[in-house]
Amino acid sequence: MAEPRAAALTGKLVSVGEHGRPSSVSERGASGRPAAERREQLVALYRRLGDCSDCQLAGCATNLVFGNGNADADLMFAGEAPGFHEDQQGIPFVGRAGKLLDELLDEIGLGRGDVFVANVLKHRPPGNRDPRPDEIDACKPHLFRQIELIEPRVVCTLGNFATKLLTGSSRGIMSVRGRPQERELSGRTVRLYPILHPAAAMRSDAARHQLQEDFRRLPELLAEPRPEPAVAPLLEPVSAAREPATAGSPPGGREPEHTSVPQLGLFG
Ligand code: URA
Repeated sequence: MAEPRAAALTGKLVSVGEHGRPSSVSERGASGRPAAERREQLVALYRRLGDCSDCQLAGCATNLVFGNGNADADLMFAGEAPGFHEDQQGIPFVGRAGKLLDELLDEIGLGRGDVFVANVLKHRPPGNRDPRPDEIDACKPHLFRQIELIEPRVVCTLGNFATKLLTGSSRGIMSVRGRPQERELSGRTVRLYPILHPAAAMRSDAARHQLQEDFRRLPELLAEPRPEPAVAPLLEPVSAAREPATAGSPPGGREPEHTSVPQLGLFG
């Protein structure tokens, strides 16, 4: 495991911005479990996945892209899979799509240290191809476990793959975007908020405006009380890769990109 990322694991939880809840190692989440204990288990999962052989992707990737940000975040983002730059750096959304994500976060007064960003797949599919159903099936327990440990109030799914996986529905992103849904995920009720993938939003002004508009609703969603338990049945997740990609989730969702943001500690 590369030294800077390993070193980052020892970092403290950061404070969150205006719209999130302040974090501290003594704070308890919705489960009543202290943040420090949940973070420790997240670190254990990260370490375990450093040696992942759940599918063949780890063998072709440069780095595990586990996810990073605040391990006690109210807001979590779920993207599709690492692209070229993410694979090189071991950090999600560090290319052009990531730059747009940072800009959108900034507009609502948040930064990467306030949120946790992860993907459906933790290793890059070769050539940035779409995730395959067997890869999603193999990797999805890790995303569910991340949600269980971080205990976000709002999980924002970026594009088709994450949206279909976490909603457990085959409905594409264009028909569900911008509409929060309450779901039972990892034993807890969360507010899922499907929005376009930033890479899709870079393809047209209209898509970018839609993404901006949906993003602006996030502070309001974060201010709402945590949803009551068991409002929607947990559906058997369908594999998103069986559905065709739509404009909301561009083929490959990730492209060779040439900008980067400074590395953050993996868990704030
Ligand atoms: N696209 C994704 O879905 N995830 C990343 O980490 C980068 C680009």
